[in-house]
Amino acid sequence: MPSTAPTLIRLADYRPPEFLIDAVALSFRLAGAETQVAATLELRRNPAAMRGDGALRLDGEGLELEWIALDGQHLTAQDYAVDDESLTLFQVPDQFCLETRVCVHPDQNTALEGLYLSNGMLCTQCEAQGFRRITYFLDRPDVMARFSVSLEADRAQYPVLLANGNPVGTEDLADGRHRACWDDPFPKPSYLFALVAGDLSRVSDRFRTASGRKVALNIWVEPENLDQCGHAMRALKNAMGWDEDRYGREYDLDVYNIVAVSHFNMGAMENKGLNIFNAKAVLASPDTATDQDFQWVEGVIAHEYFHNWSGNRVTCRDWFQLSLKEGFTVFRDQEFSADRGSRGVKRIADVRMLRARQFAEDAGPLAHPVRPESYIEINNFYTATVYEKGAELARMLAHLLGPDLFRRATDLYFSRHDGQAVTTDDFVACMEAVSGRDLSQFKRWYSQAGTPELEIAGTYDPAAQAYELRVRQHTPPTPGQPHKEALHIPLALGLLDHQGRDLPLRLVGETGVIRAGTRLLEIREPEQVFHFIDIPEPPLPSLLRGFSAPVKVRFDYSEAELLFLMAYDSDGFNRWEAAQNLSQRLLLAWVAGAGPSIPAGFYEAGRRALTDTRAEPALIAEILTLPNESYLGDQMTQVAVEAIHQAREGLMTRLGQELSGEFRAGYELNQDRGPYEPSPEAMGRRALKNLCLGYLVAAGEAEALGLCRDQFEARHNMTDQIAALRLLVDAGGAAGEEALAAFYDQWAGDALVLDKWFAIQASAKGPGTLERVRGLLGHPAYSPTNPNRVRSLVASFCANPVPFHAADGSGYAFLRERVLELDPLNPQIAARLLQSLVRWRRYDTHRQGLMRAELESILAAEKLSKDAYEVAAKGLA
Ligand code: PHE
Ligand code: ZN
Repeated sequence: MPSTAPTLIRLADYRPPEFLIDAVALSFRLAGAETQVAATLELRRNPAAMRGDGALRLDGEGLELEWIALDGQHLTAQDYAVDDESLTLFQVPDQFCLETRVCVHPDQNTALEGLYLSNGMLCTQCEAQGFRRITYFLDRPDVMARFSVSLEADRAQYPVLLANGNPVGTEDLADGRHRACWDDPFPKPSYLFALVAGDLSRVSDRFRTASGRKVALNIWVEPENLDQCGHAMRALKNAMGWDEDRYGREYDLDVYNIVAVSHFNMGAMENKGLNIFNAKAVLASPDTATDQDFQWVEGVIAHEYFHNWSGNRVTCRDWFQLSLKEGFTVFRDQEFSADRGSRGVKRIADVRMLRARQFAEDAGPLAHPVRPESYIEINNFYTATVYEKGAELARMLAHLLGPDLFRRATDLYFSRHDGQAVTTDDFVACMEAVSGRDLSQFKRWYSQAGTPELEIAGTYDPAAQAYELRVRQHTPPTPGQPHKEALHIPLALGLLDHQGRDLPLRLVGETGVIRAGTRLLEIREPEQVFHFIDIPEPPLPSLLRGFSAPVKVRFDYSEAELLFLMAYDSDGFNRWEAAQNLSQRLLLAWVAGAGPSIPAGFYEAGRRALTDTRAEPALIAEILTLPNESYLGDQMTQVAVEAIHQAREGLMTRLGQELSGEFRAGYELNQDRGPYEPSPEAMGRRALKNLCLGYLVAAGEAEALGLCRDQFEARHNMTDQIAALRLLVDAGGAAGEEALAAFYDQWAGDALVLDKWFAIQASAKGPGTLERVRGLLGHPAYSPTNPNRVRSLVASFCANPVPFHAADGSGYAFLRERVLELDPLNPQIAARLLQSLVRWRRYDTHRQGLMRAELESILAAEKLSKDAYEVAAKGLA
């Protein structure tokens, strides 16, 4: 346990800051072993805050204070107190200037918060509370200051010196040193501060904004990666144009710098004018990055760019409001990607991920509202709920208002709150202001945790030609919230006739012309009934089209009805959804003991999907992908680890055998004809082709592994190479080992590809995975201080259900060892890994006991971080 019991921070305790900082000047003498930071803060009392005891308490962690002066007067020990977390000045005037000088040690910083060293480059990460590891400050997002920064370093070692804002000059100094000055004209919270110093090369371009501002764009990387920046640069320019078109938002500085670093806890960070990226979220070339990587890079580049308005110009009042910037910005990047590629396929991918991660989170001990009420460690709240469910809330508002009003609302939000630190209530208030709607019930989505369930039933009355749809909503309890209130839920639906055509949806009492198609119903009550009239025949409802709300729908479809929806629904998302429902149903019945009883109609539907020449290949691939094992487990009262695995493998085998001719044809038909293209169409074809190959292998087709070997050896692009490698490794035996060795020889020099080599082995299906993973811990390329490496080996293993949940507890013990090894080095990463243990209630009593025992032994460890403590304690509660 941590030496002092960690404090719970509560939203209810929020108070405005007693002091404000108008301006800050920072001067860095940079070096890896020891960096000096001199800060000059212009402080004054906040007129809007209550007067406290007159003292000023600044945040600061791990700082060595060397010098301090107030209004030019050097202070002595009786004027202030320093502890592990703060510097307190006992008496200060109403307005004054405070100067401090501290010393920090970047080369010892393995937590990757504050100033740290990555492959010889100095860089920072300040969100959420890393700035306090750089200098004493009011490190909270509602204190917004103007920053000017001077960086001084050895010129040979650190030729490139970057900070936020615009460059205002460089200077050569004596002794081979140099200095660069940067000025950021926009007041910002400290979490958006950044600097980078290193031997970097760049790819440059330009963008001209709608109002004519010329912006210099730079992507800075280690020299050997210069040829992998093109995709990110195109994505950046596309994102800049899209935000102008869709939201009327222009960029506001003269330069936009992006830096790729090898050691990074998350995907990327939106520091004003100086985004710092995990190299994995920037670099992409056809031979090293998969199609998924290409799409991810484009999405993250856009996400960080969009933060310039949703996050930076308008920021969060406190960390409970995190979803104000993250949820909204994820929604923005999702829509950007939908516009760039296939809208329907993007929606499917987003919903898959929401269900896999956020629904699971909502159903476990770490469930929390989109706007949490309390936390011990804010770093634990960069969650699927805050990000992905938060995005769904923005999407529902957009849906409820419609495109024109939503745009007016976001325009109002950006103009009303420009330069301010605000709340999710302020965001919703703008939606209310432009629409005249009362969204007070909608706001419960922000404060209430849990995944709502809609139970829906329909009755047709032939005499009255009427259809009655009864909708009941219910949200199961979550920790600390035993009773739930009814939510305001947008439910998009259609009614299909027997030919699969959409009927016009007229509610009783409505007159005038009504077109056939999707209609948006608003659910507000615990139980609500909708009466549709002029319905000439018993209809088949297509519910929650496009996944119009983050809820679970229960409707008693027959197998035949699901097959019908899969074939005819005008909503592509719901065609996929029907396929998922159907295969889920077959698989769960199989697991429950019914064995493989597959109706002929299932194979027929698969065949029809596979040979549908009008459908997008990417959508076909999604439709033919069976729900994954952990998602299937989430649908059971108790997860049957091995049975799920066997049933899923078994169904793939049968489907593969039954449709082998079609899969073989699909494999041939969707081969790349020309050079690699990262276009949505080409990506879709590759996805379908590799899915076909997977089914051919599952079917045990004699030549399938030969096809994998050929595809692997052809080295045409990383998407194809890695797909083949995965199949070979999963198949086990000498061919897999040879391919792994060849892949290592080919890619040992490329860190990001090497991550894939580790990940493939950790997610392998065959026996012996844990032994292999344990062996890889000793590989010279494994390092517990590189989060990408840890994720690719350890997190991949924990996401591999059969070996992780091995009944002898060996997987759990392995995780406990890794968590305890990592916690002192990087608590954020340790706490993330630990989350794999908290859903123990979902397993049999034997596994429950094993998982709990590991959580308990972690909780009992000495000097446990707040991060890991919070996860373990909540996991056991
Ligand atoms: N704010 C970053 C993003 O989502 C995420 C992040 C959080 C990065 C904390 C680093 C540290 O864009
Ligand atoms: Zn973000």
